[in-house]
Order: sequence, then structure tokens, then C-alpha cells
Amino acid sequence: MCGIVGIIGKTSVAPQIVEALRRLEYRGYDSAGVATLENGHLDRRRAEGKLRNLETKLSQAPLSGAIGIGHTRWATHGKPNETNAHPHATEKLAVVHNGIIENFRELKTGLEAKGIKFETETDTEVVAQLVTYEMRQGRPPIEAIAVTLPRLRGAFALGFLFSGEDDLLIGARHGAPLALGFGDGEMYLGSDALALAPFTDDITYLEDGDWAILHRTGVDIRDESGQSVRRPRHKIVTGSFMADKGNHRHFMAKEIHEQPEVVGRTLAHYVDFSAGRVALPFDLPFDFKDLKRLSISACGTAYLAGLISKYWFERLARIPVEIDVASEFRYREAPLEPGSLALFVSQSGETADTLASLRYATSEQQHTVSVVNVPTSTMARESAVVASTLAGVEVGVASTKAFTCQLAVLLSLAIAAGRARGTLSAEDEKELVDALIGVPGLMSEAIKREHQIEVLARELSKAKDVLYLGRGTSYPLALEGALKLKEISYIHAEGYAAGELKHGPIALIDETMPVIVIAPHDAVFEKTVSNMQEVAARGGRIILITDEKGALDTGLDTMATIVMPAAHPIVAPIVHSIPIQLLAYHTAVFMGKDVDQPRNLAKSVTVE
Ligand code: G6P
Repeated sequence: MCGIVGIIGKTSVAPQIVEALRRLEYRGYDSAGVATLENGHLDRRRAEGKLRNLETKLSQAPLSGAIGIGHTRWATHGKPNETNAHPHATEKLAVVHNGIIENFRELKTGLEAKGIKFETETDTEVVAQLVTYEMRQGRPPIEAIAVTLPRLRGAFALGFLFSGEDDLLIGARHGAPLALGFGDGEMYLGSDALALAPFTDDITYLEDGDWAILHRTGVDIRDESGQSVRRPRHKIVTGSFMADKGNHRHFMAKEIHEQPEVVGRTLAHYVDFSAGRVALPFDLPFDFKDLKRLSISACGTAYLAGLISKYWFERLARIPVEIDVASEFRYREAPLEPGSLALFVSQSGETADTLASLRYATSEQQHTVSVVNVPTSTMARESAVVASTLAGVEVGVASTKAFTCQLAVLLSLAIAAGRARGTLSAEDEKELVDALIGVPGLMSEAIKREHQIEVLARELSKAKDVLYLGRGTSYPLALEGALKLKEISYIHAEGYAAGELKHGPIALIDETMPVIVIAPHDAVFEKTVSNMQEVAARGGRIILITDEKGALDTGLDTMATIVMPAAHPIVAPIVHSIPIQLLAYHTAVFMGKDVDQPRNLAKSVTVE
């Protein structure tokens, strides 16, 4: 992962580099660093922890120089301390790196045999030393890079700055994204276009295997074989990326509260409310009725959105669905019948495993549809069909509004599939669309339970372990509830299918363990109530998330019951997402955790 940036400017570039890094902090925040050239000499500042630590250092010891590179790190190889922070430098160059050099041990051993000493535990330093070694043999920078790049294995993006070269930056892309920005007598390099948005909207995306030689006046892009190539330039509309927190303490709170609006906006894109039907905003290069199978893959919260949609696609459209986390899907060599549909879900559109799965599916002649939130992302560019979520920029590392927007899009797709396959009548479609129309309003209602949830969170914060249970679409929601809680509060939590309780987790239940049960009054409600009885009989403390009817029908004493507004069972998981998000959020806030940037995590995971 990590974010990289490079600027050849006219005046001092360090402040601009820091500004770009702030926009890349979603990719990691274990350490940060900047290197510039001052009168041809390399100088750098690096700091452990968040970008503000680097800013403090820069304010005490500023860097001048009109050319520089910067980095924000999510540690893979080596502890997140200052020594391992990028840029890594030798007397010849400085380098920033995103991704993993898989063969770094072998390369390092070879260099050590030549007497080269290493200062850090990182795989990146190997790149710095390899290029330096070539330069010491008399190769100029461009040639040294040309002979080094083919020796590197893995998925990575690199940015190089050379001692004594005041008009040269080199960037390379191999499996991890890298964008070039064109300014007026200035050139930019960045992990994404958003990082460069304050400086330019004129962007070229490098393709895999490309490397680029940047000067103030332009760029020479070479492909893997070293041939100069042309890549298209795009005008990028990035909007107001650095949205502020409004009246909220955290981005996560703001993003939870924004959901009625952004889910509404997303639905308006997919549903013709007045006609009572789904109207997809794109043409499909296949017909749902010809599909024998649908494969879904994604990671993290996006995977759980996909898992909820499995229930929808199977129930509403009778399409057999297989779903896998992308890190498994990409390697398990699943037999995929050509012409089937492969669906990918990703907020960032850059997650390495999901992207690799998309590429695998493409190579297996699958129709590909990606549900993504970042329209300029690699997945958006590489999918046959892009089903955009209109969540807007999500800053909180723990996904909230992107998740519910993904659900809105996936349900719209499932309804469209059901209609095309004749498993839903026009009336069924109208009923479901009416239910969808009501979702933003129901989400607003759900948010009104915040005070009750905030009080409850104080109790939850005392727990060491928490169990989440649900059946049907509430089962993936139970998994999402547990994921949210552990991500931001660091309380151990597990989600289970309520029916699986008796096959293991019931052994854990005692009076210290809160059990959060998600149970709207749907077809499996009574079954879930039986599982709650089993918990109650063993002294477990139940927090029940249900609707009005469910609250009346349980007949059980609970530690708390959070009553959601009544919703059509198909759309209930979208509404019931709100209390599980709020519960995790308030628990973490009460515990004083960094909810927007939890430890060890990153917003976009571009390593496997
Ligand atoms: C990280 C984030 C999660 C996200 C997952 C998948 O783990 O912290 O919030 O769900 O990556 O990311 P994607 O961008 O593919 O949805």
C-alpha cells in the first residue's frame, strides 16, 4: 500500500508534497517523509506516525528545493519507525515505493555479497541500492532504472529523485497504480489523481509495466520493453475531495449521517421512481436471462455487501451465486464458464486482490461488472461495466456510506436481473422499488436512535469479546457489525450465523459477553428468537436490533433492544446497517480510539 508523490516545480515543493500526502493518508499513516534537492544535494525529513509529525519536523527544519518526492507508509516490511520510513536514500538517489518487492531477499543477498551494507529492514532499500550500484558502474540514471526494473518482482509503484538532477523524476508502475499530472512548466507523479487535484486536472494513468521519465517540460513514457509509448490524457473532475467534517467530531460520524442522502442519490441513479422500476444507467453487454452463474469477489466490508447481495440475486433472480473473498478467489483457479458474469465490489477500486480477481475473470472470458465508488480507479477503467456508487469521498477508514451505497446498487442489479429472468413480475418490481424509495427516510429514522446507542456503547466498551448473530441477510450484517467493532475499538468480536451458535460459539457465552442479535421481523425471525433463548438460558446479555413488530414478539429480557422502523425484509439490511455502525462508532469514541484512522489499517489496500 502506501501513497507516493513526486513534483518538479518552479518554487519550493515541500509544502505541495505534504498537501498531496494528506490526500493519500487513506493509503496508510504509519510514517511519512519528503526528500528534495537543494542545490543538487539530496535532503530529506522523515517521521514515524501520522503526517502531522512530519509537518512538525518540516516546520522546525524546512526543506527548500523545487523538485522532490514524498511518501505516506503502510508498513509491510520492517517496523513503522523513522529508519524504515521513506524516502530511502543513498548518495545517488532517493526513492519512494508503494507495494511489495517479492524477490527482495534474493536481491539483497546478491548485493550484500558485493559488500553493500543495508540500513533498514525494508524491501524498498534494495531498489535504492540496486539502482545506486548500476550508477556506480557508470550508468546514467535512466539507464540504471532501465536495467533495474526488469529485475524486480511483485506489485509496486516507484518514484525516484536523483542527486544532481534538478530536472528529472522517474516513476514506474508494476501492478500498483501511478498517475502523472501535467502542470504549466511543472510535472507531477502520484498514487492517484486525487492527490494531484490541487495542482492539476490533466492526468495520464500509467499502464502496467510502464515507467515515465519526467522533466519540467513533459514526459517520456516507456513500456516494459523500453519503447516510448503514448498514453491518453484525461481531464479529471475530482470535486471537493478534502471535505471537512461539518459539525461532526469525526469523518466516520459525518459519513454515517450522510447515508440517507447518498443512498438516495445513488438510488436516483438506478431507479425510475415515478415508473416504479429499476432503470440501470448503463447498457449491459449480456442478458441476465442467459446467465447460468454469477461469481462475486471483494474484500473487507465490500465483500460483506457482496455476501448480502448473494441472498438477493438468488432469491429475486434465481441465479446461482458463488462468492469468495478476493484474496482466495484470485488463486483458487475457479473454473468459470465463458460468458458468465463476474461481479466485483470495491469502494476504492484499487484493492490489489479484487483487481487481480477482476483480471483473472477477464482472462477467463467473463462479463465483468464492478461496483465502485471511485470512478477514476483502476477497476473502473478495467471493467466492462462500471456500476458506480455515488457515496462521495469516504475518508473514514472503516467503510460506512460506501457499504450502504453498494447495497443500494447491488439490490437494483438483483431486481433488474429478476425482471430479465422473469422471476419477478412488474408488480413485484414495483413493490421492491417502493421499498427502495422508502430506504433513505428509514435510514434517517434509524439515525434518531443514536442517543440510545451512545448510552449503550458505554456498556459495550467494557466487554472483552462480543458476539454478533443473524440469519439470512442479517448474517452478513452480523459479520459486518463484528468487523466494524474490531476495526475501530479493537474489542474482539465475531459474527456468526445464528443457527451455527450451537456448533461452537455457544461455549463462549457467559454473563460477561454481550451478544448482539440482528433480527428484523422477517421469515426467519422465529428461528433467531430460538437462538436468543439459547443465549439467554446461559446467562448471555443480549442486545437486540429489531423492528417494532420484532420487539413486541420476542418475549425475552434483553440488555437493550434497539427498535428500527419497519422496513420491507428485502431492504432491511440497508436500514439495519445504521445501528451496527453507530454502536461501533460510539464504543470506539468512548474508549478514546482514533476512529477515522484506526491502528494498523488503511483505507485502500493495494498489497496482497
Ligand atoms: C480496507 C478498508 C475496508 C474496506 C476494504 C476493501 O480493509 O479498511 O474498509 O472494506 O479495504 O476495500 P475496497 O476499497 O476494495 O472496498
